[in-house]
Amino acid sequence: MKVLVLNGPNLGRLGRRQPEIYGRTTYAELAHLCVEWGAVLGLDVVVRQTNHEGDLLDWLNEAADDGTAVVLNAAAWTHYSLALYDACAQLTAPLVEVHISEPKQRPEEFRHTSHVEPHAAATISGAGIDGYRQALEFLARGGRD
Ligand code: DQA
Repeated sequence: MKVLVLNGPNLGRLGRRQPEIYGRTTYAELAHLCVEWGAVLGLDVVVRQTNHEGDLLDWLNEAADDGTAVVLNAAAWTHYSLALYDACAQLTAPLVEVHISEPKQRPEEFRHTSHVEPHAAATISGAGIDGYRQALEFLARGGRD
């Protein structure tokens, strides 16, 4: 089964970006790990990152057309993009929302809202990079709790 692991803005700087919050694993390392974890689980994993919202919308529309399962860390767009809400609503295969930190426990009020969550079969937050592995495991189990 194919799985798209999609990452939103600023995640390309993982490892250098606020390591006290997001850890020291780089984006390149994360992408490599996701492919490896997926292979162990029998999943064909493709990992992408963008700082441009239209790219993410195009990839989600593609996933909707192809019936592809998605692991999504939409980063800050999670909290305010209604276009992202609409794109997630169109997905037919399971969607898993991932955040490295636990946005709902963070002090900024704006992080407490998610426009992805209403459409997600599961949300995995606060587990660091391992959250991506857990999301892939969830999909490999069939995308149900
Ligand atoms: C994040 C949490 C978001 O609030 C933040 O804007 C990010 C990363 C996370 O992975 O913890 O960019 O999605």
